[in-house]
Amino acid sequence: MPSISFLSQIALDLGSENTYVLLDDKSPVYRCASCVLLDAHKEGTVYAAGDEARHMDGRTGEDTLLFSPIQYGGVADSELAAMLLLSAIEKASGRRRGLDKSRLVFAIPDGATRVERAALAQAAQLAGAKRTLLVKAPLAAAIELKKHVERAEAQLMVSIGAQVTEVCVMSGCGIALSRHMKTGSAAFDAAIVEYIRKKHELVISSLLADEIKRDLGTAVAPATEITQTLSGRSVRTGKPVTVQLSSQEIYEALSAPVEALIGAICDALYHVPADCSGDILKNGICLTGGGSELFGLAERLGEDTQLEIHHSIHPSFDAVKGAYQIAQDDKMVRALTNAYSAYEI
Ligand SMILES: Nc1ncnc2c1ncn2[C@@H]1O[C@H](COP(=O)(O)OP(=O)(O)OP(=O)(O)O)[C@@H](O)[C@H]1O
Ligand SMILES: [Mg+2]
Repeated sequence: MPSISFLSQIALDLGSENTYVLLDDKSPVYRCASCVLLDAHKEGTVYAAGDEARHMDGRTGEDTLLFSPIQYGGVADSELAAMLLLSAIEKASGRRRGLDKSRLVFAIPDGATRVERAALAQAAQLAGAKRTLLVKAPLAAAIELKKHVERAEAQLMVSIGAQVTEVCVMSGCGIALSRHMKTGSAAFDAAIVEYIRKKHELVISSLLADEIKRDLGTAVAPATEITQTLSGRSVRTGKPVTVQLSSQEIYEALSAPVEALIGAICDALYHVPADCSGDILKNGICLTGGGSELFGLAERLGEDTQLEIHHSIHPSFDAVKGAYQIAQDDKMVRALTNAYSAYEI
């Protein structure tokens, strides 16, 4: 087996909504949509991957199909996931490149099953990688947040992605307790679509709902009212119409799913072993994942749990950046592998 030092390391986080790539510690994190545009009639024909696919969707009629090879954090189709990751690496590198001299390092959900891990490893192999390392994303994110590791103290990590939320208690290099929930920020988009359909009788896409969530969305009552003009299709007439939308309305639209998400996180906290409570009170919660960027969500979580919340400026980059750091440290890889927090393939 070749020594790792001869291989370049490429860190990846294949999320349900976004794919993140980090080529080295001097480059910025590359991000693209986790989707491919397929020919609806010819199996295996892929027209585009990543953001290009997302932008072409809806403009090519019924002959194409937008498909996400990653669903609920797991690989749903290894061949298409291989195409997606190859395309993302090429775009991040700015050139076509073979992966025969690379080790791919993936941040994976803690709740990834053996089958999902095998499907991801297969995707890496199909993409041409000779070696693959899978590391648990919550640990990777904690390392990026400089909160962990190899310390005996328990550390609580809450990761909110688009389709997956995980609450993990880490202890040393292992995960002592975890709860994996198939919900995340995409539930906020669905709530916005539904609210606007009911209140304004307007049909909007989930992509537009995502934009509204970023611009007007809030998990706490808005201190000042922001409004935005919104265009969509009338439910009744089918014609395009515009309406005024306010941050107060989006706060109302999001109140049920925000409460459900925070409730699920708090419920997971009740199951934390009593022995860890002291450490958690002292260390607070590390909040990570793009879904945690919803305005006011960290504040709400802090209020509801009475714990201090720590997070980075770009929480969606934490896992891929931490995975890259882990890959540089052979001792850390061994320690995580021994604790079943990393898998070398
Ligand atoms: N500023 C923001 N305000 C609100 N939501 C945001 C913001 N930035 C990103 N998000 C949301 O974060 C989600 C994407 O997060 P992330 O990229 O971590 O998910 P993912 O890794 O693709 O999904 P998963 O981990 O569930 O498989 C999206 O639903 C997006 O709308
Ligand atoms: Mg993710």
